[in-house]
Order: sequence, then structure tokens, then C-alpha cells
Amino acid sequence: MEARAVEVPEPPSETAVTNDEVLVLDFGGQYSQLIARRVRECGVFSELLPHHAALEEIRARRPRGLILSGGPASVYAPGAPALRSELLELGIPVLGICYGMQAMVLQLGGRVEAAEVGEFGRSRLTVKEHGRLLEGLPAEQSCWMSHRDTVFEPPPGGAALASSSESPVAAFEDTARGLYGIQFHPEVVHTPYGTQILARFLDDICGCDMSWDAASVVDEQVRLIREQVGDGHVICGLSGGVDSSVAALLVHRAVGDQLTCVFVDHGLMRKNEGDQVIAAFRDTFKVPLVAVQAQERFLERLAGVSEPEAKRKVIGQEFIRVFEEEALKLGDPKYLVQGTLYSDVIESGGGTGAAVIKSHHNVGGLPEDLEFELVEPLRALFKDEVRRVGLELGLPDRLVWRQPFPGPGLGIRIVGGEVTRERLAILRDADYVLQEEIRGAGLYRELWQSFCVLPGELRTVGVQGDERTYGYVVVIRAVTSDDAMTADWARLPYDLLERIASRMINEIRQVNRVVLDVTSKPPGTIEWE
Ligand code: XMP
Repeated sequence: MEARAVEVPEPPSETAVTNDEVLVLDFGGQYSQLIARRVRECGVFSELLPHHAALEEIRARRPRGLILSGGPASVYAPGAPALRSELLELGIPVLGICYGMQAMVLQLGGRVEAAEVGEFGRSRLTVKEHGRLLEGLPAEQSCWMSHRDTVFEPPPGGAALASSSESPVAAFEDTARGLYGIQFHPEVVHTPYGTQILARFLDDICGCDMSWDAASVVDEQVRLIREQVGDGHVICGLSGGVDSSVAALLVHRAVGDQLTCVFVDHGLMRKNEGDQVIAAFRDTFKVPLVAVQAQERFLERLAGVSEPEAKRKVIGQEFIRVFEEEALKLGDPKYLVQGTLYSDVIESGGGTGAAVIKSHHNVGGLPEDLEFELVEPLRALFKDEVRRVGLELGLPDRLVWRQPFPGPGLGIRIVGGEVTRERLAILRDADYVLQEEIRGAGLYRELWQSFCVLPGELRTVGVQGDERTYGYVVVIRAVTSDDAMTADWARLPYDLLERIASRMINEIRQVNRVVLDVTSKPPGTIEWE
């Protein structure tokens, strides 16, 4: 256990970075988040607000434009989310997408009807008049639709720009009033010109400065962290995952040695992973770091525990205990850094900034009963943006692109038996072979996760040399996924699997059998426990 005080932080930058912002009002659409992501990819900061967000809040943020998202309801359904007319009179351009467009047209006196046939999936868009919104786009293009209500006539003063087989008005604009609508979804990849259309809205119509990027996040967060923390003492639980690493580096950039990171090595990490985290933070970034070697404590507490939930509880509680002890030794810092992401904020029903914070599991459990004020510099960012900020801050590729790793670590990958020192060593060695081969084959980034599971009590018979063996079975689990909600088992090449299996059996004396998990999620979960 060791803390090191280091370098003085950079002098504060006086220039406050304020980027243009376009707000997405969420009418319940499946892709509302994606709209905000695409807008950001165009270089304009964007956040989601509920469709009923207070007008004062919207005005106070001074957005350059508004986007009204799609939604599942029919505009004629009782209780369908209403579009307040004031939103169309804020003096900024508004783009309605799908339901957003229909609600707008209805509000302005155009004609929207429930059509006989819905339009779902790929459609052909024919542009009759390019207007301002579709300028420079091909006259024929494919687009992606998902609607039943249909716009038959644009509102008075508006011009119909395009149609599809089922949508007489698939795009309209009223440039005088700054109102634009599209029936299709520009945010999904199946609308090849979608991003270009969004960019036209943001650039040409809203006049946004399109320069928002990871570097501006760093500058802005550094300023905000300094404002929040002042000369207070900040603590951060580092897990080695990308979120807590990037959050810690941002805070260190902002307040230097006022930050102390605590890295609890619970002995459930992958081979060398603890050392890599310590080397990166303490040696490269010179972040004051307390590394707690708590392997023995965790092993003792895990003795005799094999039921999955009990195991998670033991690991989580012990983590909190160790963290609390360290916080007290550090003089009870006032601030705690959390790597909460925008997706966590949205999932917890937020978006308005007033949302309940979803507890974050990166460090294996939150010290909930400690009274910290939270510092959450990643609260507005999506995962891929966090990675870009990490790269911007010089975080090594290995940490930036690390696959997700659960807080309880290898503890929940020794299944159906207790976690022992020997089993951990076997699992760690097997996992090391797997990682090395997956990386060697260039597949690491393509996979959401790749790891091994060790059935703790199971032994099988084998033959090696001329001898009968009775050894452990290692399970290979590799999945592809976008968000861990669903996952598909990865079709790893046979040659690679063969090499992995033979290396594991040759290099790890206690292992004599290797099997592959071919279960997707659902019905399986990614982890075995
Ligand atoms: P499952 O197994 O439910 O996992 O399909 C979904 C994703 O969550 C990760 N996971 C955890 N992450 N603490 C974490 O930080 C945990 O306790 C935990 N349990 C599961 C899992 O690795 C997968 O990416």
C-alpha cells in the first residue's frame, strides 16, 4: 500500500469552451439516443430531453436547433405525446423525424392519416424538390421507414420535398418558419444519406459550429471539474476499465494531486492486469495512486462460498470495506469520481440532468453509505466517445480498447464450486492463453468479450502420454454484441480454437479438456454466474 505525491497540474485554462448544442426531444422512439449520437458524430454536441421538458429549461440551454424524435404512438391515439406549439416558435430551426414530423404537421394544419398499409424497413425515396434540407442529395435513394400514420399534405406554407411508395409526403420544409420534417430515419445505417441530411440541418440550417470533438470534451470537463471541486480532495476507485480510467485522468488533468486513485487488487483480476493499471497510472501518468493488495482478504472471505449471488455479495461488500478504510486513511475526501456514462443516465430515466444515478458496477460495488459528492465527468458521453477522450488523454490502446470485465472478476468465472487460489491460478493461465491467441488473430476488438470459465468441481478423464489423467475442464466463451443486452456466440475459426485448446492443455498441467460455449443471449447470459 503506497501513495505517491507528484507533479503540479497544468495552469487552469481561462477560455471556457462552450459548444453549440442541438437538443433531441424524445417522443419515445427506439432510435432517439442514436439521433443524439449521429449529431455528435457530425461535430455538434447533442443531448436527449424528454418531450415534455420544461420550456424554460430548453430556452436556458440556448440550443441552435431542435430535433423531434420518432415514437411508437399514433398521433391520433388517446394520450399520445403532445407537441407543444411553443416549441415551434422558439426562433430556432426544428427538424421532426417520423412521429416528430407527423406531430408537427398535425399541429400546423397539414394532413396526417392512419394509412391502410404501414411502411416498415427499407423504402425508396424519390426527391421531387431538393429545397434546403435535401440539397446536393441524389434524386433517388434508399431510406429506412417505420410508421403507420402517414403525411398526405404538408402544412400551409410548407413544401413537399420527397415521397416514397407509401408516403406521399416523406419530407417537407417551411424555410420561412425554419420547420423541417422527414418521415424516414436518418440516424440508422440503412438510410445511407441520413448523416448527410442531419449535417445539412446542423450546418446549413442551424448554422452550428461543427467542431465538437473529444478534445473539446477534455477542455470543457477540466473547466467544470475545477469549478466543482475547487481545492477539495478527490478520491477515485480505479478498476482498470476504460470508464474509471478516463474519468480519473480527466480529474487528474483538472486538479492534479488533489486526486488520489485507489486500486483494490482483489486477486480476481486477469494475469498482469493489476500491474498494467498501476504502471500506467503511477508511472506514466504520475497520478497519486494507492494500490491495495487485498488478495488474501478476498480469498478468506470467499472460502466455502459457491452460490453465485452470495459470491457477488461477498466480493462487493469486501470491496466497499477496503475502499472505506482507504478513504478514511486519506482523511475522508469530500469528492468521489464515478465513471457514469450517458447510457446509464438515460437508462435510469434521465436525460434532464436531474435523473437518479444508476449505481455503477465498474469497481465491484459503490461505497453507498459514504457521504461523497460525486464527480461524473463522463455523464454526457457515449462509450465510443469515452474511448476517444481516453485516446486524446494518451491512455494506452490496451486500456482504451479493453473488453468489459465484471467487477467481481474471475470470482464469477469459477462456477459450481468455491474460489480457491489453485483454481484462480488455472483460470488466469487459461485466460492468458485465450487473450494472447485472440489478440494474435486480430479478433480482440471485434469481440465484445472473450474469456474462460472454470467449472470448479468438475473433473474429466483424459489420456496424456500413456497416462490416465483426471483434470479440469476449461470453457471458452466469446461473444459479439453491441450493448451486452443481447449477444451472439462468436464463430471463432476452427484453427484458432484448435491452437487455443492444445496450448491450454499443454501449458496448464491441471487442464485436460477444453470446450466451447455456443449459447447466445438470450437464452444464456454472457457470464456463467
Ligand atoms: P450478463 O452475464 O448478465 O452480463 O449477460 C452482461 C454484461 O455485464 C457484465 N457484468 C458485470 N459487470 N459488474 C460489472 O461491472 C458485475 O457484477 C457484472 N456482472 C456482469 C458482463 O461481463 C457483461 O459484459
